[in-house]
Amino acid sequence: MPRVMAEVKEAWSCSLGEAVEALDAHGFDPRDEDSLAHGALWLRRLGNDPHFLGDLIVETLAACGARETAESAYGPQAIVLSGMREGFFLRANVWPSERDHAFRTSGARSFVYGIPHDHNFDFLTVGYFGPGYSSDYYEYDYEAVVGRCGETAELRFVERSTLSPGKLMHYRAHRDVHRQLPPESLSVSLNIVAANPAAGWFDQYGFDVAAGTVTGVLNPTATEVFLRLAVGLGGAEALDMAQRFGRLHPSDRLRLACFEARANAAGSPAAADAVWREAERCGSRLVAEEAQTRRRGLSTMR
Ligand SMILES: [Fe+2]
Repeated sequence: MPRVMAEVKEAWSCSLGEAVEALDAHGFDPRDEDSLAHGALWLRRLGNDPHFLGDLIVETLAACGARETAESAYGPQAIVLSGMREGFFLRANVWPSERDHAFRTSGARSFVYGIPHDHNFDFLTVGYFGPGYSSDYYEYDYEAVVGRCGETAELRFVERSTLSPGKLMHYRAHRDVHRQLPPESLSVSLNIVAANPAAGWFDQYGFDVAAGTVTGVLNPTATEVFLRLAVGLGGAEALDMAQRFGRLHPSDRLRLACFEARANAAGSPAAADAVWREAERCGSRLVAEEAQTRRRGLSTMR
């Protein structure tokens, strides 16, 4: 489960500006223990100020009203506190309880409750307001998983625990899996999120914890979507690009999308089978395993 950083003790508080300034000066690299401890200390200090978030919300809403615009960094759940910095950003997450209006109108899935997932980024979090959400925590070995839907992920259950007020944790990318449960009453957590520009190419998975399997990738890239669209529209250059990316692209997921797009545009089951035969030999375990499944599906259609 995420590492509980109970050793980070601090009685003082700081303002949001002071926290951002300190993190700007020192950076935030969760792979470096000193950097992680520094980030945790400033998150602890920020979390010790019980007023800054309420003040910020009032300030922002008042400014919006004065401008009569809808400009805001506020979504239904995440409040961006710092904007993107060099390698990180700060945010507050709002966790409604089952009794709250937002939960009743938007539903559990909008807040990722009950959807086991990992993260493709590291982040620090601290319980800031309310009793905090609970999670069933699991761990798994990212390197042993290719990401095929239905693949066994060897999830290891660790425990159920709550992000109670003041509890500070480090969620480790591609390792910690959690299934969140709504808190007893409205809660807020604060995060420092490591922002790696390459993170989008690394999968975030959903899991079926009862079966111990991957249910799918939760972070499709815009590149995949545009490529599928371009191939679907039938352009020769798009097809050529899909063939090249399918053979050579560093992202297995994009390679799979290339073969899928080509198979969908192939025109006949026999032509689609030829695409998947090529995929079986492309050298990617993810693509090859998926290709075998698709070929079995095609053979039952014929
Ligand atoms: Fe999560």
